[in-house]
Amino acid sequence: MTRRFTITTPIFYVNGAPHIGHAYTSIACDVLARFHRLMGEDVLFVTGTDEHGQKVEQSALAQNVPPQEFADRVSAQFRQMQQDMDVSADDFVRTTEERHKKSAQALWKKVADNGFIYLGAYEGWYSTRDEAFIGEDEVTTHEDGRKTAPSGAPVEWVREPSYFFKLSEFQDRLLKLYQENPDFIGPAGPKREIESFVRQGLRDLSISRTSFRWGIEVPGDADHVMYVWFDALANYLTAAGYPDLTGEKGRYWPADVHVVGKEIIRFHCIYWPAFLMAAGLPLPSKVFAHGWWTVEGEKMSKSLGNVLDPKALSDEFGLDQLRFFLMREVPFGGDSNFSRRSMITRMNVELANDLGNLAQRTLSQIAKNLDGVLPERGAETDDDQVILKQAADLPGLVKAHIERLAISDALEEVWKLIRAANAYIDRQAPWALKKTDKARMADVLRVLVDVIRVIATLLQPYMPQSISRMLDQLGVEENERTLEALNTLLPGGRILPKPQGVFPRFVEE
Ligand code: ME8
Ligand code: MG
Repeated sequence: MTRRFTITTPIFYVNGAPHIGHAYTSIACDVLARFHRLMGEDVLFVTGTDEHGQKVEQSALAQNVPPQEFADRVSAQFRQMQQDMDVSADDFVRTTEERHKKSAQALWKKVADNGFIYLGAYEGWYSTRDEAFIGEDEVTTHEDGRKTAPSGAPVEWVREPSYFFKLSEFQDRLLKLYQENPDFIGPAGPKREIESFVRQGLRDLSISRTSFRWGIEVPGDADHVMYVWFDALANYLTAAGYPDLTGEKGRYWPADVHVVGKEIIRFHCIYWPAFLMAAGLPLPSKVFAHGWWTVEGEKMSKSLGNVLDPKALSDEFGLDQLRFFLMREVPFGGDSNFSRRSMITRMNVELANDLGNLAQRTLSQIAKNLDGVLPERGAETDDDQVILKQAADLPGLVKAHIERLAISDALEEVWKLIRAANAYIDRQAPWALKKTDKARMADVLRVLVDVIRVIATLLQPYMPQSISRMLDQLGVEENERTLEALNTLLPGGRILPKPQGVFPRFVEE
């Protein structure tokens, strides 16, 4: 039976335009989804937008448009970002869709029917002007005793009726979950953080509001809308067709991995499994937290004006160059910094020099000296066998890295072979063999084509468009681009198209 693989990004808030951070998560999940498809798996890759809550309501109000219209507009920008970044998501869940409302309400009902929801009161500092509860640590106490919100608006202590989720009852079950499934949270840092947080004890969680309207109605109590995180997390079930998990999409639940930024792990590693346990639903296999991008050493922020637009970067450097840089620059899970200098260096050294030249040198010699005809495999020398063995071992190594979400280690593994192939071509010097031993020259070029084919096949998920062109030039047909297909040699005699550089150098103006 085909193994199935379900992967998700967080659903992004519609209160701001997409930036490089959102693109990063989306591209990382895309690489994983594409890799699993390459392995022949039945993949569901889900992303979407998180559209409810007081902040969205307020942003819409500030622009004088109804919240739905506001959400439509920004959600469309996220969809566009995915197209621009070549992100191959299979589904895009919007929390304002009818199918999602049904799913979130069904989840609520199930949790309530199982006895894990009760009506209580939510207490806290409230700013009427901001229409918001203000966290204790955000309240300023003035000399005359007045208390204010960060906006300067006065706050008062209020109690608002609220439904609560009995999170406090899940401490032991969660700890047991982490213990019995050591891979449930990755990487190690966030895992430790979550475990120690849960060990300190959990308080019941307020999961409804009456102070604003822009949300999903609580089943059976129209005065309340759901707390955004209850609503948002349910999106993962929506994609599987919940509440009907016996339907066409039902086989995709539970998810294999929820990829998230490290700032939202509590929601995904504590609340989410607790909600699912309370509903009696199967749990995802893994939550993986990636790190945070800064820009030229600074946190991205609107006020600093340094928020990076992924489209502008791909227009300047090339889409696949950008995708490569983001995946290569940082071990998945770590923090990283976007700097123009390192973007340009990687693009020129690793793509243009290492990979681009390897392919271009090989293919242009086949074009010039063999009339563009792919030679048969010849007799193999020891040197040939060493590099061919390294190439044959590569898919297994890369697969193992991908299975543990080591997206950048997988690239490093591929680059080892690229560097070895460049050393091989220098040693064998086919350009010199041209005059002394043309048959051997053909053998060397054929070995190189076979090695580059393995490299290119494995790089497809990272740089789909450029690598597709490289595979065209290598004479690899569309149906010969899976991992499985690598077991069959390309027949000699194919006419290769005229080679063209795939990875240009970036020259700073
Ligand atoms: O948190 N570096 O949505 P959000 C790396 N709606 N990744 C970044 C980033 C950065 N500087 N900035 C954003 C939400 N991200 C909720 C999620 S899920 C049920 C609900 C990425 O719009 C990263 O994946 O604030 C982060 O977790 C996500 O965008 C947050 O997006
Ligand atoms: Mg955020």
